[in-house]
Amino acid sequence: MSTPSSASKATKAAKAFVPTMGALHAGHLSLITLAKKYSDDVVVSIFVNPLQFENPDDLAKYPRDSDGDSAAARAAGATQVWTPTVAEIYPSTPEIISVGEIGSRYEGVNRPGHFDGVVTVVDRLFKTVQPTHAIFGEKDFQQLFIIKKWVAENNIPVEIISAPLIRDSDGLALSSRNVRLGEQGRSDALVISRALFAAATSNDPDATLREFLSAAPGFTLDYAVVIDEESFELATSQTSRRRALVAGWVNGVRLLDNMAMKVRA
Ligand code: PAF
Repeated sequence: MSTPSSASKATKAAKAFVPTMGALHAGHLSLITLAKKYSDDVVVSIFVNPLQFENPDDLAKYPRDSDGDSAAARAAGATQVWTPTVAEIYPSTPEIISVGEIGSRYEGVNRPGHFDGVVTVVDRLFKTVQPTHAIFGEKDFQQLFIIKKWVAENNIPVEIISAPLIRDSDGLALSSRNVRLGEQGRSDALVISRALFAAATSNDPDATLREFLSAAPGFTLDYAVVIDEESFELATSQTSRRRALVAGWVNGVRLLDNMAMKVRA
């Protein structure tokens, strides 16, 4: 694969990359659509990365449908679909890239090593695909922040493009894990987006999130925080661009969501 030399669609070498773990849904397909704006050449990878699963049960249960996913990715505009094996990505014991302290906050508290595993695989995927642009969804907001930081700090010549989170018509953030919720679980899970929509226009988003989420039936809160989008520290009274991050469990399924809060003047 060729080395990236330009960030413009007009240049032949532009190549947009959408890394995925498969189980593609409309959220992933929107990343592919966005990728087409940056290059006619869109590579989609489908690789369930064992390094980012701290729970072997979660890894085993991760939905896999490589043929269906490849067809869906091509129908959405992918020009190449790459489905590497574990041995191809990790031919020997990999050296793990550490993302540092940011990897142990919020999502990292209960998922030690998760973001190290993500960045380690993204590094390997980038080295093979050599994209000029890579698209990551805002659904995994901490992942997006960490990847942008790692790319900037290591002068990696890939432009990271963020794509908006996509919701179902009932408000639930699209996720490959939603299929495991069941009917009641799906209904219980709606409290997350309701809490976020209410918090977004509240004068005290932390209190609003607590009010909705601390004793919601069928929902076990992991964390609900309002962070500063620039630093990823907890937001203060000085923070203008704030975002609420929520994670929790419904019917044994871990769900993540986030939303921008009203901008502080
Ligand atoms: O967001 C995901 O699906 C994964 O974390 C990624 C970026 C494909 C790395 O395995």
